[in-house]
Amino acid sequence: MERALLLSGLFVSAVFAKSGSSILDFVDPLIGTVNGGHVFPGATLPFAMAKAVADVNGEDQGGFASDGSNITGFSHMHDSGTGGSPSLGNFPIFPQAGCPDDLVDNCIFPKDDRAVPRINGTAQASPGYFSIELATNIKAEMTTTNHTALYRFTFPSTPTEVNATLSPLILADLSDLPNSRINGSINVTDTTGRITGSGTFSPSFGIGSYTLHFCADFSGAQVRDTGVFMNNRAGTEPKNLTVVQDGVNNSPDILPAGAWTRFHAPSNGSILARVGVSFISPSQACHNAETEIPNFDFEAVHQAAGDTWTNTLGVIEVTPGAGVNTSLQTVFWSGVYRASISPQDYTNENPLWNSTEPYYDSYYCIWDSFRSIHTLITILDPVSQVRMMRSLVDIYRHEGWLPDCRMSLCKGFTQGGSNADILLADTYLKIRSIADGMDWQTAYAAVRNDAENEPKDWSVEGRGGLKSWKELGYIPTDDYDPYGVGPFTRSISRTVEYAYDDFCIAELASALGYGSDAQKYYQSAGNWRNMFLSTQNSYINGTSTTFTGFLQPKFLNQTWGYQDPIFCSPLLNFTSCYLNPTGHETYEGSAWLYTWFVPQDQASLINLLGGADEFVRRLDFFHESGLLYIGDEQGFLPVYQYHYAGRPGKSAARSRFYIPSQFNDTLVGIPGNDDSGAMGSFAALAMLGLFPNPGQDVYLITPPFFEEWSITNPVTGKKATVRNVNFDGTGCIYIQNATLNGVPYTKNWIQHSFFLEGGVLELTLGSSESAWGTREEDLPPSLSTSNKTMGMYGW
Ligand SMILES: *[C@@H]1O[C@H](CO)[C@@H](O)[C@H](O)[C@H]1NC(C)=O
Ligand SMILES: *[C@@H]1O[C@H](CO)[C@@H](O)[C@H](O)[C@H]1NC(C)=O
Ligand SMILES: *[C@@H]1O[C@H](CO)[C@@H](O)[C@H](O)[C@H]1NC(C)=O
Ligand SMILES: *[C@@H]1O[C@H](CO)[C@@H](O)[C@H](O)[C@H]1NC(C)=O
Ligand SMILES: *[C@@H]1O[C@H](CO)[C@@H](O)[C@H](O)[C@H]1NC(C)=O
Ligand SMILES: *[C@@H]1O[C@H](CO)[C@@H](O)[C@H](O)[C@H]1NC(C)=O
Ligand SMILES: *[C@@H]1O[C@H](CO)[C@@H](O)[C@H](O)[C@H]1NC(C)=O
Ligand SMILES: *[C@@H]1O[C@H](CO)[C@@H](O)[C@H](O)[C@H]1NC(C)=O
Ligand SMILES: *[C@@H]1O[C@H](CO)[C@@H](O)[C@H](O)[C@H]1NC(C)=O
Ligand SMILES: *[C@@H]1O[C@H](CO)[C@@H](O)[C@H](O)[C@H]1NC(C)=O
Ligand SMILES: *[C@@H]1O[C@H](CO)[C@@H](O)[C@H](O)[C@H]1NC(C)=O
Ligand SMILES: *[C@@H]1O[C@H](CO)[C@@H](O)[C@H](O)[C@H]1NC(C)=O
Repeated sequence: MERALLLSGLFVSAVFAKSGSSILDFVDPLIGTVNGGHVFPGATLPFAMAKAVADVNGEDQGGFASDGSNITGFSHMHDSGTGGSPSLGNFPIFPQAGCPDDLVDNCIFPKDDRAVPRINGTAQASPGYFSIELATNIKAEMTTTNHTALYRFTFPSTPTEVNATLSPLILADLSDLPNSRINGSINVTDTTGRITGSGTFSPSFGIGSYTLHFCADFSGAQVRDTGVFMNNRAGTEPKNLTVVQDGVNNSPDILPAGAWTRFHAPSNGSILARVGVSFISPSQACHNAETEIPNFDFEAVHQAAGDTWTNTLGVIEVTPGAGVNTSLQTVFWSGVYRASISPQDYTNENPLWNSTEPYYDSYYCIWDSFRSIHTLITILDPVSQVRMMRSLVDIYRHEGWLPDCRMSLCKGFTQGGSNADILLADTYLKIRSIADGMDWQTAYAAVRNDAENEPKDWSVEGRGGLKSWKELGYIPTDDYDPYGVGPFTRSISRTVEYAYDDFCIAELASALGYGSDAQKYYQSAGNWRNMFLSTQNSYINGTSTTFTGFLQPKFLNQTWGYQDPIFCSPLLNFTSCYLNPTGHETYEGSAWLYTWFVPQDQASLINLLGGADEFVRRLDFFHESGLLYIGDEQGFLPVYQYHYAGRPGKSAARSRFYIPSQFNDTLVGIPGNDDSGAMGSFAALAMLGLFPNPGQDVYLITPPFFEEWSITNPVTGKKATVRNVNFDGTGCIYIQNATLNGVPYTKNWIQHSFFLEGGVLELTLGSSESAWGTREEDLPPSLSTSNKTMGMYGW
């Protein structure tokens, strides 16, 4: 109760502290809507289920793209930034101002045929709002509540259709973006024009199927007639239909089918369409819509959405300082915004089991999101972070396994390790004191299950190769594993990820008093060494890179295989480096890249690679040779690994190399798939100057890109401030000295208590590297150099 009160009080002050200048002006949701960013730029609330936007027939993973392609409809749920196929986009609605010759059957129903060009330059997006104009001179605007989308279609007084007078038709289509429909049914009510429907679809990166329901109501014009359509024909009878797979048709999933409502000319030119969604039933979809948007007040819903976003983002205050242009602020705020839209809160919408726990979905995927998204959520919105973790634990309770990826109520594909282990450890270490309702014993049972038990299908949960892992300490490239099935690839990247996951499990075990478990998992956290071949060299185009010692394939019989250390570098040589059956020993990255992935023990890695200077020389080469691709999440931590070699200034310089050159405020301004906000949260954390080593209570300190920022913790109400002294926005990027609450601070890292308890970290900057943060005792902790009984890895 106390916390609830504190929360509301805080939000009010955060809003008014802005004194009129709206931070929402610095959010551009259209960033990353071309060039593979796959960002969802539509209307939504933080972590909400309803996500409304115009869907296109071009780069449609996030629904809309700024690629000039045509618009096929407007749908109510999406995922953002996904890599492969488009996600969700179910039950699109589509408006036409009139049917040619005023005949319903002359309106256009199939998705492919009705697709209409946009009017270039008309897309407008801001938090909680999206609009665009169609070549048919219809303006479409949308805003949302938690489970309901509200659209306002404004029609031209003269329809562009041949021989048509203004009598708008709005259809609702039993389809989704990937055309994955398995079956569907739809009803339209003649008196009100209400359309309800249900459909069963396939998830975009996982197994199984899911069923979703919707309920569309209209306001602003009198209903003229109603009906259904099938294929390219429509009629006023019957008022419902059901589509199943027909056994002959090769692509039953794209057979156009749906319902429509036609109106008399609207009194003020606009018709509002309110679409509620639910995973439970059509009637719950209607109930969601009726309770969340009772009176179709577009302006009020839009205003409320904007206020919600202002409150959510308003926990941060920024003083930009000299030389910081609007573009850089837009990169920052847009990044924070994009990291606040997934996972999605489907609490009370989960048909799979009954529970009083929260249910979140679209952990898409944890392999991506553990590296920056959840650490940013932990800082800005710990209440949501805890609810997400409770939901993960509840998924374990009911399905027996933590997910590594999940969407649309379905199990998603595991890319490497069991990385939910990292999220749970990170959350424990940072915010256990405010983790209301979190059941840490069950959380521990869940992560231990990942480490101990091999599932029958480890392509969607847990880990494969566990027998070899326990007996040999690595995943053999030619593993003998008759205990479960999964892609028998990625032996190198799975090994280093399993090792880090075990480290995180050890942290939890240690904290919860499971001493012998902790010992065991700290031990297997060192297994990454078992695939390190100290004599392996590396060439690019026949020229030696001059570095020796890389992770390499290793067989069951303990002899070595070979994979060119640069192979699977996206910018150099990348063939079948995904989850292909013909995949290789490293996933979406090279052995060069994975050799860095020892987040738990950089001190050992530095020794192994020849000491700090050689480590820095190798890291420099990695960044400058094309071997590092910052558009995939494994590229994030190497920007900051200089800290462990006593060169925090180099991390600062590197982050400024990538931002804004690779992360900027243009439409193409994201280097890879945003992956639910991974790219956005990387940029945001980098600009805050506190970059996490996720899974550990560690933030690596670099100067913020702004003169000063403050973050007010929404639970404790305490304010953490970081201030740059001598900030000039350009050259002065090296910390000379630091104080924390006025006391000299020499460590180059800081812990999350800074955010819980508040304080002022003041960094004095200069134009060249200094001795600050370079001494052995000032470096971040490493497993091999930490005192496990007294240090940060034990209690
Ligand atoms: C709109 O932009 C697309 C490319 O984004 C272009 O192909 C098309 O010709 C443009 N249309 C008009 C009317 O300018
Ligand atoms: C978009 O629609 C226009 C006009 O109907 C058509 O000429 C064009 O080929 C369509 N483009 C796509 C990608 O569907
Ligand atoms: C929307 O959902 C969030 C949690 O995800 C909740 O905090 C908020 O109160 C909900 N909004 C309304 C109006 O119910
Ligand atoms: C439009 O209507 C006129 C008059 O009814 C008719 O002659 C003409 O054929 C129609 N045009 C089209 C394209 O349907
Ligand atoms: C359609 O109407 C029928 C009969 O009233 C009802 O049983 C069914 O649940 C409805 N389906 C949907 C999707 O609304
Ligand atoms: C369509 O509606 C009629 C009348 O309510 C009902 O008998 C029939 O079962 C419905 N059919 C479908 C496919 O929902
Ligand atoms: C949840 O509880 C409701 C009401 O008791 C029941 O109808 C429903 O079948 C239950 N769902 C599951 C998945 O157990
Ligand atoms: C390697 O050679 C290719 C083809 O000559 C060239 O395009 C590429 O830039 C070279 N890469 C490096 C890192 O030297
Ligand atoms: C070890 O296993 C590999 C892969 O199966 C095989 O090529 C190699 O000949 C084996 N070496 C020995 C010494 O058995
Ligand atoms: C890419 O790597 C593969 C595997 O090492 C190799 O066979 C192929 O020749 C390489 N391609 C190029 C263009 O270097
Ligand atoms: C913006 O970022 C994109 C993606 O990383 C990059 O291709 C582009 O060159 C950058 N633009 C500018 C102006 O820096
Ligand atoms: C940094 O602080 C130390 C004491 O903490 C002081 O001796 C030194 O002069 C300071 N250096 C700078 C550049 O401010």
